[in-house]
Amino acid sequence: MSESQTGGGDGDRAPFYILAIETSCDETAAAVVANGSAVMSSVVSSQVDLHARFGGVVPEIASRAHVELLPPVVAEALVEAGLDGDGVDAVAATVGPGLVGSLLVGVSAAKAMALVWGVPFVGVNHLEAHLYGALLEEPDLRLPVVVLLVSGGHTMLVVMEDHGRYRLLGETIDDAAGEAFDKVARFLGLGYPGGPAIDRLAMEGDPGAIAFPRAMLDEGYDFSFSGLKTSVITHVRKEPDLAVADVAASFQEAVVDVLVTKARRAARDIGARGMALAGGVAANSSLRERFLDACIEDGLQAFLPARANCTDNAAMVAAAAWWRLRLAGPTPLDAGADPNLRLPVA
Ligand code: KG4
Ligand code: ZN
Repeated sequence: MSESQTGGGDGDRAPFYILAIETSCDETAAAVVANGSAVMSSVVSSQVDLHARFGGVVPEIASRAHVELLPPVVAEALVEAGLDGDGVDAVAATVGPGLVGSLLVGVSAAKAMALVWGVPFVGVNHLEAHLYGALLEEPDLRLPVVVLLVSGGHTMLVVMEDHGRYRLLGETIDDAAGEAFDKVARFLGLGYPGGPAIDRLAMEGDPGAIAFPRAMLDEGYDFSFSGLKTSVITHVRKEPDLAVADVAASFQEAVVDVLVTKARRAARDIGARGMALAGGVAANSSLRERFLDACIEDGLQAFLPARANCTDNAAMVAAAAWWRLRLAGPTPLDAGADPNLRLPVA
């Protein structure tokens, strides 16, 4: 068990600026972060409009869009931070998991800049970056912290024991929470991406209207959301006149119930000092409210990042890169991208 500062305690030394790039999926992002926690700039260009008419991300379109969008996004991040290439101390990029073509755009650009400027390149795991996104605004970090990482591709309960040292308590055995939001939204005709659409509509509905199943609620730390998705579809087909807002609110309530119950139990079981929310689904209004209530009730430090730090961004990549660089040094320039990269867990 350790106590540490995300800021790194560098005293009077000149700030260490990391330029980070994130292109693992459909956001083209760049950020400059000083000493791992002071965000000088964070620019995100979303490709949502390009993919919406296909109902999901089209990998080939995503990688081509990254090629076009990355140079202006990087330029804007540098200008906003008041830096030119000379002031950058390291360049980081997400190396996985994600869409391989999209990853390679960011990784190649980051390596090229690192080479030209003669500074280290740091390859960052996207999941580790999400963990740091949750802690970015929190200089006073007391470990261990239980992190509920809920995104479009992942749903995990992770114990952060120290920087770079994680323990996986549980994960989804089928769909990720964000995937369930997106699939249910698509079925309800709410468009893409589904999470924000369900979030908005649920505010007008009754979360107690339909008692959807809470799978594996009392069993360990793993999750399952595929049965819930099927249950929503079956229910709506049987009762087509149901108010869509009630379906959205009841579905969201079932997801949030399971997520908060398990995170809370995990924090109690391991004697955590705090709980953190990470990943795109952490932007969900109901999840944020219930998560915060649970932390207050259980006397836990709550790490509830701003919505912009939950969904994909490059500031979280820079924060993770700061610790990666300290713990493991630079990443060799011949290292590639890995679309199936896992979180390095004990
Ligand atoms: O972390 P993220 O931006 O990308 C991945 O790494 O997957 O997460 C995207 C996921 C999508 O499934 C999206 O529907 C979901 O996060 N999401 C939300 C909300 N905002 C984004 N889910 C529920 N409520 C939201 N407000
Ligand atoms: Zn993500």
